[in-house]
Amino acid sequence: MLSDNDHIEGLFSEAAPNWDLNRIYADLQAASGKEVKPFEKACLRGLLCRYRPGQLAFKLTWTSGALRVELNKGLYRSLEAIANQPINTLRWEKVPEWLEAKGYKVQRQSLNNEFFQDYSRANLADWGEAPNIQTFYGRTEELTKLEQWIVRDRCHLLAICGMGGIGKTAMAVKLIENIQSQFDCFIWRSLRGAQPTAQLIADLLQFLNNSQSPQIGSSISDLLEVLRQKRCLIVLDDFEATLQDGELVGAYRQGCELHSELLQRVGSERHQSSLILIGREQPKEISMNQGEDQPIRFYKVNGLQRQGAFELLRARGFTGSENGLEALIQQYRGNPSALRIVAGTIQELFNGNVSEFLKQTALALGDVLRTLLYQQFERLSKLEKDVLYWLAIKHRPVSLANLRSEMNLQTSGSELIDALESLRWRSLIEKITEQEEVMFLLEPVVLKYVNRKFVEEVSKEISAIALQQNLKSINLLQSHVLVEDHAPDSIRAMQIRLVLKPIKDKLAKAIAQNNIELESLRELLASHSQNQASEATSYTEVNLTLIGLWW
Ligand SMILES: Nc1ncnc2c1ncn2[C@@H]1O[C@H](COP(=O)(O)OP(=O)(O)O)[C@@H](O)[C@H]1O
Ligand SMILES: [Mg+2]
Repeated sequence: MLSDNDHIEGLFSEAAPNWDLNRIYADLQAASGKEVKPFEKACLRGLLCRYRPGQLAFKLTWTSGALRVELNKGLYRSLEAIANQPINTLRWEKVPEWLEAKGYKVQRQSLNNEFFQDYSRANLADWGEAPNIQTFYGRTEELTKLEQWIVRDRCHLLAICGMGGIGKTAMAVKLIENIQSQFDCFIWRSLRGAQPTAQLIADLLQFLNNSQSPQIGSSISDLLEVLRQKRCLIVLDDFEATLQDGELVGAYRQGCELHSELLQRVGSERHQSSLILIGREQPKEISMNQGEDQPIRFYKVNGLQRQGAFELLRARGFTGSENGLEALIQQYRGNPSALRIVAGTIQELFNGNVSEFLKQTALALGDVLRTLLYQQFERLSKLEKDVLYWLAIKHRPVSLANLRSEMNLQTSGSELIDALESLRWRSLIEKITEQEEVMFLLEPVVLKYVNRKFVEEVSKEISAIALQQNLKSINLLQSHVLVEDHAPDSIRAMQIRLVLKPIKDKLAKAIAQNNIELESLRELLASHSQNQASEATSYTEVNLTLIGLWW
């Protein structure tokens, strides 16, 4: 098992290839006269990778407030000192800029090592926040296909999309390594910080121009001019960060609205360059115009194929002949993050016995994957979340008609279709056709996550009901059923085990801890419930009966 310190030390390690971290740590220590703490080092690395403080706090499992206080007391002040900046002027997003100006960024081309020498074949390359991918399995055919799209077909705009952790970034790094020599210049940027369009363009131009023509402006037209003059390759990773939370796919965050024009113009105008977008969601500028005969292409990244997945597992200590390996790969759909995580769990907790693991736990989600899914889930609209909860409860493919009738939607049917499409673009659900009917289901890793989240949220509602002795905080208990009346027995059994039982346990705990008298709570709820009886579409009574708060 990883200790807390190992966990912190492994965080944001992708900063290492790009920054002279040891020199920064040493200078920070000299400036403050104190040792730089592991969490400060982790925060520094995260800031260099353009994570926001809130995201740092989440990964470190701190509250944002506490983290900000600590950083303000220590790290920020020392950073101001080593960057020769006035005290109390540091804003977190300035950190990479200031440290680069002070020469702490690694010049990759100058490193005397085979890996980096390879990159220097392109005249000009800036790998930005791209991670250094040391182990990479499978995906040979996929890489060949993408290479052809960019090099042979001279595709202008390529979107590589898929759920978090599926291997988009790693695959793009491999792709670029193969094709970079075909370009005059190459730049990689992560949009994790949701830089406004103008700032992004200025950043790209500054590099692509190689400071040759300082008089050049920083508009989208200026960028296109450079894309015409030179064969440039631009990679924009974490593109979903520029899109708004809580909206259906497609709307940009404030400041990033002009990204839309950038994509449209790069896709449609004449030039000799390529722009690769990497993200969880497909931008609408791509979905509307992409096609195999078009300069705009879309590639959906799925899990590793059997062979690649086997190689990955072999590298993590399996011989390849263990019973259950095949089923394990199937269960995680070849998702490399998921496989890496469960491989570790199986080795540590099950002595490498895959079948035993599969028997005991369906999906043990590790920290990494949970973080990825958490971020993705928090971005969804209410309707999208509701759909995911329903699909999680159902535990099997569901048709649109069925979903619509169960959900008792106040909204129109087309909104539900939009939400399903949106979820599909976000790679959270799959669409399949069964006996000529279109059905929707959750990706297995997502299913496990959403189920947990549902139980957590409903448990909160139940605890609030018990404490407040009324039904005011009811929400999911009204809109979703916990156990379906008419589901097949095997599904009902699952709903009882995975949903109802944990919720009842939580309630029992809340009741015991707060000395609540169950009988009087039931009576109170019955009277409240009668007052609300007009809500015919509600699942409240069914659910309360199941939980034992109503009869
Ligand atoms: N083909 C692969 N072989 C081995 N490891 C991989 C492969 N693809 C991804 N990984 C690993 O899985 C993790 C998630 O991959 P990443 O590319 O960051 O996912 P994404 O960008 O889709 O969120 C990383 O640790 C990465 O190194
Ligand atoms: Mg990525």
